[in-house]
Amino acid sequence: MEETYVMVKPDGVQRGLVGEIISRIERRGFKIVALRMNFIDEDTAKEHYAEHKEKPFFDSLIAYVTSGPSVSMIVQGKNAISIMRTINGATNPVDASPGTIRGDFAIETGRNIVHASDSQEAARREISIHFGEKESVDYRKIDEVCLY
Ligand code: TYD
Ligand code: MG
Repeated sequence: MEETYVMVKPDGVQRGLVGEIISRIERRGFKIVALRMNFIDEDTAKEHYAEHKEKPFFDSLIAYVTSGPSVSMIVQGKNAISIMRTINGATNPVDASPGTIRGDFAIETGRNIVHASDSQEAARREISIHFGEKESVDYRKIDEVCLY
């Protein structure tokens, strides 16, 4: 089953949006198979955003994602990678549709609340940066359980 890495960035945590965001992921039908709140250290943040290291916004991006605790998840389900990108909305909240997380709660790119991997390769890479092999759990959701 497809898996993606999702982060509630420090502004999402500070604004008390963790429950709202987890709720949207669960209601869509996805399964959260790993979940943790922690401070992401500078080296980990730089590895996570390595593709952007030459960009003018890189230093402020690293300062932003390390500025407070964030929430990391592995989200599992059919088409999880592309659907989580759609749930998050456009990178720049100016372009994010209402009904998306960024379209409902964010107003600027530098404070856009959430992250989700953008490809299968990125998902594999990001999951391995933020989680160890034994940190994801195997369980069945109620709709996967045969009750009788
Ligand atoms: P990017 O990977 O392009 O967006 P996404 O988070 O949707 O995958 O950029 C990573 C983060 O970098 C983005 O969420 C916010 C920050 N950023 C800026 O601060 N300024 C910018 O101009 C861009 C493109 C991104
Ligand atoms: Mg990206």
